Amino acid sequence: MGAVSESRTVVAGAVIVNARLLLAQRAHPAELAGRWELPGGKVEPGEQDTTALVRELREELAIDVVVGDPVGADVDLGGGLVLRAYRVNVVSGTPAPLEHSALRWVDAAELHTIDLVAADRQWIPDLVALL
Ligand code: CDP
Repeated sequence: MGAVSESRTVVAGAVIVNARLLLAQRAHPAELAGRWELPGGKVEPGEQDTTALVRELREELAIDVVVGDPVGADVDLGGGLVLRAYRVNVVSGTPAPLEHSALRWVDAAELHTIDLVAADRQWIPDLVALL
């Protein structure tokens, strides 16, 4: 029973202000808690990436953003999930950790040392090029 499942996209946002990148510290699940990521989440069926990323960052950070260019390559998360990052510009609000443990702004040097989730580490060279 059941249709062959399509891969589901997870979108993540790179907010960069004054040569610093906004990172969010995961509160859950236990195996990822404490590690840092680009904030985002799953695209709903029928939803555009850009719409999903605007929705997720409003829910998670209480900011309104405009979505720009993709950053780096898609990352296969396994389990039918593909992770994709986009540059985003904040148009209103100040980021607040509504669903994360904490937020932090990092420069290029700090990005190399912070405990990023494994998937996001693949974007470090692309992100450094933007900082
Ligand atoms: O909240 P929602 O279920 O929409 O998304 P999530 O749980 O934040 O992310 C879905 C999956 O993408 C999880 O496996 C996360 O670990 C992964 N993810 C990631 O690897 N890197 C990110 N920057 C965001 C999500």
